[in-house]
Amino acid sequence: MVESSLIKRILQDIKEIPPLPEVATRVLQLTNDPEVSAAELNQVISRDEALTANVLKLCNSAYYGLPRVISSVSQAIMYLGFQTVRNMVLSSAVNQVFIKHDLSIYNYRKNGISDHSFAVAVACQTIARKLRPGLSDTAFTSGLLHDVGKIILGKYLRENDQVLQQRSASPIVTRALELEFFGMDHAQVGSHIADNWNFPQELTLAIGFHHNPDEAKGRPLLAVITYLADIVCLRLGVGLNNPGIHPPISDYCFEATGYSDDTIDELCKEVQEALQATTKSSDH
Ligand SMILES: [Fe+2]
Ligand SMILES: [Fe+2]
Repeated sequence: MVESSLIKRILQDIKEIPPLPEVATRVLQLTNDPEVSAAELNQVISRDEALTANVLKLCNSAYYGLPRVISSVSQAIMYLGFQTVRNMVLSSAVNQVFIKHDLSIYNYRKNGISDHSFAVAVACQTIARKLRPGLSDTAFTSGLLHDVGKIILGKYLRENDQVLQQRSASPIVTRALELEFFGMDHAQVGSHIADNWNFPQELTLAIGFHHNPDEAKGRPLLAVITYLADIVCLRLGVGLNNPGIHPPISDYCFEATGYSDDTIDELCKEVQEALQATTKSSDH
């Protein structure tokens, strides 16, 4: 039986999570507005120096294969488009949130949650482009934030002796363990956070059910995409302390996507190549 005082503390912590940096929220609003100009977007992003530096670094990675070095946000928008720049800004903003938390209890390397989340975002986008291209940007956001609930539960896991004992038997903090100790898993906590940030319902559902998409109301494809993208990145071991884990894939997700074991293997290769390209700096 989970203590109700613990549940109360967790819910209170969720409420106290600070909002995403204002510039990220503003950029999300602007990129959803078809009337907005590149100059306006440029103005908002350029106000945040750290964010601008990160965006330029990403633009100049080999992933985008641009023919020239990008040195300003307005050039980035011109060459890569609003949506790509939006995703870059969001990734940098989410990193600023993750960087404040020690999540080694979840078997991540130092800052591994940022690498894992970015990889899942790229994998989500890769899968969405094949299954439903209109979902690509939302899928990227869902991948980026799918594990955000861990920033709350990680703290309580570290404080719990029983958890630490169980963890020494197996390095993986399972959903079952979270449900046993907290009465909720990190996915549910994450969906509350996304709700607090006023994210659209399809995103809160995808985050909330990224480990059990068949249980989500209406079984939205976005939850299935996030689930598969997570599995791909767990197999690749991105951000983890171990070389990679192979959770089984539910029959429902094979059915919903028409994927086979071979398709998943191909996806792993494709995502790995995309990730290698984002970390390599451009040679021009
Ligand atoms: Fe998760
Ligand atoms: Fe994950």
